[in-house]
Amino acid sequence: MAKKLTSSTKELMIALGILLAITWTAHSDKIPDFDLIVAQDGLGDFTTITNAIFAAPNFSLTQYHIKIRAGTYKENIVIGREKQNLTLIGDGMDSTIITWRKGCKLDISYSNSR
Ligand SMILES: *[C@@H]1O[C@H](CO)[C@@H](O)[C@H](O)[C@H]1NC(C)=O
Ligand SMILES: *[C@@H]1O[C@H](CO)[C@@H](O)[C@H](O)[C@H]1NC(C)=O
Repeated sequence: MAKKLTSSTKELMIALGILLAITWTAHSDKIPDFDLIVAQDGLGDFTTITNAIFAAPNFSLTQYHIKIRAGTYKENIVIGREKQNLTLIGDGMDSTIITWRKGCKLDISYSNSR
């Protein structure tokens, strides 16, 4: 009797663990929602960060998120004062890299929320 209870408790724990893992994946995939996606493979809205920033609204009253997929972007990023509430979100420290000069490297997560 006690043994049966233990084994079903174990099963429940495993099921919960799997459920948690799935929830976590869905969570990190979906939040935050992105308004624009930059991807070098052409599967996003833009292939360059410069164009995505240009397309972002001026003086936005709400948060505007630009997701930048993994890749090395050789761009001189200029974000004007009019690009307010703009957040650039990379795919991680080692996967989204912006270089604009030899030896200069920016690993983003940049936020312009002033
Ligand atoms: C933002 O302002 C700049 C300069 O004033 C303008 O050239 C650009 O088209 C505007 N962008 C948008 C998305 O409204
Ligand atoms: C930025 O967005 C917030 C809402 O998320 C808004 O309250 C705030 O006024 C915005 N900032 C600017 C400068 O528009």
